[in-house]
Amino acid sequence: MSEKIVLTGIKPTGIPHIGNYVGALKPLIEMARHNKTYMFIADLHALNTIHDAAQIRRHTYEIAALLMAAGLDLENAVLFRQSDIVQVSQLATMLMNVTPKGLMNRAHSYKASVDKNTAAGLDTDAGVNMGLYTYPVLMAADILLYGTDIVPVGADQKQHVEFARDIAGYFNKIYGETFKLPEPAIGQDTGIIPGLDGRKMSKSYDNTIPLLCPENELKKKIMRIITDSKMPDEPKDPDASTIVQLYAHFANADELADFRARFAAPGMGYGMAKTELFDKVNAALTPVRMEYERLMANPAEIDAVLAAGAEHARAVAEQTYNRVKHAMLG
Ligand code: TYM
Repeated sequence: MSEKIVLTGIKPTGIPHIGNYVGALKPLIEMARHNKTYMFIADLHALNTIHDAAQIRRHTYEIAALLMAAGLDLENAVLFRQSDIVQVSQLATMLMNVTPKGLMNRAHSYKASVDKNTAAGLDTDAGVNMGLYTYPVLMAADILLYGTDIVPVGADQKQHVEFARDIAGYFNKIYGETFKLPEPAIGQDTGIIPGLDGRKMSKSYDNTIPLLCPENELKKKIMRIITDSKMPDEPKDPDASTIVQLYAHFANADELADFRARFAAPGMGYGMAKTELFDKVNAALTPVRMEYERLMANPAEIDAVLAAGAEHARAVAEQTYNRVKHAMLG
């Protein structure tokens, strides 16, 4: 067990696809086996885009159930809902006062909105609410509240973690050493899981394989992976194949070596390769899907885990917040 404190958050905006699962969730669950980990559902961060309480609530349960079903080790990992810890909003209010406005102007997500508005000839801030604009301050509060050392995220969140580090530095400079400086940890696999068309799997390309769909739907999706028109007896390059790349994430080293060799040699057609891929993916996901469905039918079990997580997280959050309050207000 490492001494490092790991923390990460996931917004409740929908059920992740296989790319998110393999690229982000599985490595996080693995990391949580060996580190004290805070993992929370960032429902406050979902508010700048979703203005429907029922939807946020449903997605919160889905993410919690998925993490539990996928084997999150609840001995080491504290799983909680961001909004259950009131100190996070209080700390964000405090941190606003040491955060330069210019830093927020440079945030990628805000800049992307400004660029889109400018290109469309609209007011630069059209459709931008303060939740979006101050998003990085709330995220800094998330990270700093729990004495975090490492923040595993996808590349898209790297800047936010760097901002949290900057904000901690500004605070420490004025009020003395209060916060640890967190580091982002970007998974190597992150963002390169291919989708049905061979491009990065992403909802925006409509090329995803859903994580928890029924078996027949999973099979249909996998059979739709785009290939060239090589016949079964023609040699194929395993390194250029989406089928092989996906297989690699669900097989052990021996199985992969065997699959690659048979794929490259004459005899294995794409249909057969896809069927073998389906069997592997389905075998890995079936127990997760079953446990997920069981949990979703028993929300009280999820509530109990989230309540215990909140209690644990709150005890740590209170201490940090009280230190900050004392430093800033005496
Ligand atoms: P969110 O909910 O958008 O994404 C959750 C995690 O998944 C990563 N991710 C991806 N990684 C690789 N490829 C993709 N296509 C992909 N899409 C998403 C994200 O980088 C993230 O690690 N702001 C955060 C939530 C958050 C948070 C925090 C994270 C709130 N507070 C404090 C860490 C620490 C977000 O919107 O993630």
